[in-house]
Amino acid sequence: MLKMSGLTKRYRTGDLALREIDLEVPDGQVMALIGPSGAGKSTLIRCINRLVEPTSGTVFLNDIELNALHRKGLRRARRNIGMIFQEYALVERLTVMENVLSGRLGYVGFWRSLFRKFPRPDIAEAFRLLERVDLDPMVDKRADELSGGQRQRVGICRALIQNPLLLLVDEPTASLDPKTSRQIMRLICELCKERGLSAIINIHDVQLARIFAERVVGLRMGEIVYDGLPDRLTPKVLTEIYGEEDWETTIGGEKTGGGDAGENEGDDEDAGPHPEKERLAGMI
Ligand SMILES: Nc1ncnc2c1ncn2[C@@H]1O[C@H](COP(=O)(O)OP(=O)(O)OP(=O)(O)O)[C@@H](O)[C@H]1O
Ligand SMILES: [Mg+2]
Repeated sequence: MLKMSGLTKRYRTGDLALREIDLEVPDGQVMALIGPSGAGKSTLIRCINRLVEPTSGTVFLNDIELNALHRKGLRRARRNIGMIFQEYALVERLTVMENVLSGRLGYVGFWRSLFRKFPRPDIAEAFRLLERVDLDPMVDKRADELSGGQRQRVGICRALIQNPLLLLVDEPTASLDPKTSRQIMRLICELCKERGLSAIINIHDVQLARIFAERVVGLRMGEIVYDGLPDRLTPKVLTEIYGEEDWETTIGGEKTGGGDAGENEGDDEDAGPHPEKERLAGMI
């Protein structure tokens, strides 16, 4: 369970981005965080893994107070928190496989990571994940040779190979076409269910939040103004979150559920020997 209490962030510029946020996310829950630009969505998820230091308040992940941790403890705790970014944050000149394995850097010792010699079980798990997201034919491709949707799937694998308890996802579909956006959201939600992960997904697209999330939290000017079921996102609620607009058209689409399509289903068969797998295992 993730629990935030009185979480407040005032940037040095004076911007009060979060005001006394109290929020609990139970294990296994996929929550969408919506709200207008500047509402504090990115700040909130960054305060959880301390990419941004909160000004006051507490964040607990299970019984660990994240904001009380110092370097080593924080590094260990961050293994439990996977992050998926809008801009993918891949290393362009590395292969798909190497980018996924970089998610293990919190576990692998310095010298191994320097020479990119990863333990065989990590490599096997990277293959399983890439198969799961249908990227196994692309393991040797460089990140800069991939489409946006493929890059985001690499980002998902990199977050999951950490074996996290919680996923923090910031605008995962912002640069993707509508169909790919749905596939990526579906994939994230399916993987959370399969692995019992909880997730906070910052998303601008209200329709995607309604379709895929179990719970929606609406943020406005650093405060929670809605917390409830996606179905209850009425025009009145959307006006409260975003301001006046014709919301009828936005919420007109039908709900299809998060785990319906099998287009990203992978099989569990061993991929067998692979040159990239052998190369990365090196002399271990
Ligand atoms: N590094 C920073 N320094 C100063 N102010 C910041 C910083 N980052 C964000 N802010 C301010 O904090 C507020 C919340 O920003 P944040 O990026 O969390 O919003 P957001 O909801 O993620 O917006 P968007 O939907 O555009 O990504 C804004 O007023 C923003 O200007
Ligand atoms: Mg943001």
